[in-house]
Amino acid sequence: MRAKAFAPAKINLALHVTGQREDGYHLLDSLVMFADIGDHLEVALAPDMSLEVTGPRSAGVPRDDRNLCWRAAELAGVTARITLDKHLPAAAGIGGGSSDAAAVLRALSDLTGTTPSQAGQLGADLPVCLHASACRMEGIGEQITPMELPALPAVLVNPGVETPTPAIFKALRHKDNPPMSALPDRPGAGALIDWLATQRNDLEPPACAQQPIIDEVLAALSPARLARMSGSGATCFGLCDTEQAARELAAQIAQARPDWWVTACTLR
Ligand code: C5P
Repeated sequence: MRAKAFAPAKINLALHVTGQREDGYHLLDSLVMFADIGDHLEVALAPDMSLEVTGPRSAGVPRDDRNLCWRAAELAGVTARITLDKHLPAAAGIGGGSSDAAAVLRALSDLTGTTPSQAGQLGADLPVCLHASACRMEGIGEQITPMELPALPAVLVNPGVETPTPAIFKALRHKDNPPMSALPDRPGAGALIDWLATQRNDLEPPACAQQPIIDEVLAALSPARLARMSGSGATCFGLCDTEQAARELAAQIAQARPDWWVTACTLR
């Protein structure tokens, strides 16, 4: 028996760092949505563990227990044959590895009827990626509040540089920033974007300081209603009024910067 699962790109529309715990982990207040683009997985229970990685972004992806997919199956207490069709850039602030691991857990839950309760062991982004739809994320990532939000047309751009998460958190000067302000009640897309413009990603300034090309990405996305970095970078998103506007902006950026990863999508 095989199960298929989709691992959507995770976008932090706002990411406020509100404190730091004694163990070093940071307290977050983040609004998260998921794209209709991502990685595709197939999982089958098997006598031995194996991981095959295919697809346009498969280069350099580990095929052993360094990969969170592998560790997700181990956490679930099974051996499985996993196929990962990789479309998302790795280590890019859009939850690639965590979303893949969450997809493995979803597929295994389809096959075995159980989901391990310790998924958070695999990373702070695991709970939100298991949820995989619009929510507010607090604590170090373990507190998830589902949100009803309108779909948002978007452009995602990654310039191909890495901004390692621990280093970006470490470079953050102020760790006790204000949380997100109150969200408008049942906002339409326009009101949601207007509100988001008054929020922040606190990791954006330290990431831009380490990789100034992120400022160029944000400038390229400036025709959008709002441009911001996701997670600890380096992927940035631009929010547009219509899917056509998103497709046009994506085409324009892809033409100007053929070396960048650029895609139009819809966030939900
Ligand atoms: O949990 P995960 O492996 O995704 O986190 C990678 C690193 O990011 C952690 O080792 C930590 O340095 C940092 N981090 C943090 N606070 C969070 C999430 C991640 O400091 N809430």
